[in-house]
Amino acid sequence: MSEYILGIETSCDETAVAIVKNGKEIVANVVASQIESHKRFGGVVPEIASRHHVEQITMVLEEAFKETEMTIDDIDAVAVTEGPGLVGALLVGVNAAKALAFAHQKPLIGVHHIAGHIYANRLVKEFSFPLLALVVSGGHTELVLMKDHGDFEIIGETRDDAAGEAYDKVARTLKLPYPGGPKIDQLAQEGNMVIDFPRAWLEEGSFDFSFSGLKSAVINTLHNAKQRGEEFRQEDIATSFQASVVDVLVEKTYLAAKHYQVKQVIVAGGVAANKGLRAAMEAKFKKSKPELLFPPISLCTDNAAMIAAAGSVAFKQGHRADWDLNANPGLSM
Ligand code: KG4
Ligand code: ZN
Repeated sequence: MSEYILGIETSCDETAVAIVKNGKEIVANVVASQIESHKRFGGVVPEIASRHHVEQITMVLEEAFKETEMTIDDIDAVAVTEGPGLVGALLVGVNAAKALAFAHQKPLIGVHHIAGHIYANRLVKEFSFPLLALVVSGGHTELVLMKDHGDFEIIGETRDDAAGEAYDKVARTLKLPYPGGPKIDQLAQEGNMVIDFPRAWLEEGSFDFSFSGLKSAVINTLHNAKQRGEEFRQEDIATSFQASVVDVLVEKTYLAAKHYQVKQVIVAGGVAANKGLRAAMEAKFKKSKPELLFPPISLCTDNAAMIAAAGSVAFKQGHRADWDLNANPGLSM
């Protein structure tokens, strides 16, 4: 018998609903992005995000069902992002999920947003454990060791800025529109290495990351050049900055993969869409054992298919949320 999970994601600036079959196959995947509304503020404005989620959620839900000619009766469980994220944004998804599940007496499952990003990869290929996930998004940079489904051990994380955050802040300094990550990625393809920006390796054997020093180095370099009346090409700054980020991400992931002798290395989160990171990871892992997985670009950034995929595993493991499930902006893994 097939299992169908309805996934709902509203943790940041995408209102998303998806239906996933047997935890692996996307049946419907609808994402309403709010990027245009936040652009002129240079970042996500929480109040605006919440309001848009409220306006969009019913339509996005209807759209997902329309794509499939399914009804809520065909759904086995409702999975929703309970955290981490913006509290007002999360609340919209959590309440929509609770209302639907309660009204139709379906099981309700709370999903951690990062577990969702990781499980986007299971929509590509079945997991082989142990596996190592490099999670790189706007709010997170983590190396997560998984010995089984639903078992997440953080073996390294950022001590300051997330990788995506560094991209967005450097982009803002370069006066590029929000979100800056994709734009820097594009410019980086066209530039030259002109500056050797710092790489934070931290203590020997540490799998932690740090990107605030790099971010400050870029900002200072641009500021000092301006004082001298000089200007760097945006492309060259993008290439040099991206090289520093990618070097550290790839090298630490490689060392951790060897240390834990994992069977698979998977990359997850918005920054997993980065062309430079994808190419460097592919080159590094080409000849070595762990198999490398990336989600398709459309599943790297926030979506609900990943939440349904993670929800499917939790559902099978018997996890159920109570009707008092609440948004938890600081939810730990
Ligand atoms: O996973 P995500 O959609 O949201 C969070 O959970 O944070 O990630 C969004 C982040 C933003 O910081 C965005 O700039 C970054 O991912 N991003 C990229 C690229 N596409 C999105 N960063 C670098 N290169 C990209 N191609
Ligand atoms: Zn995300």
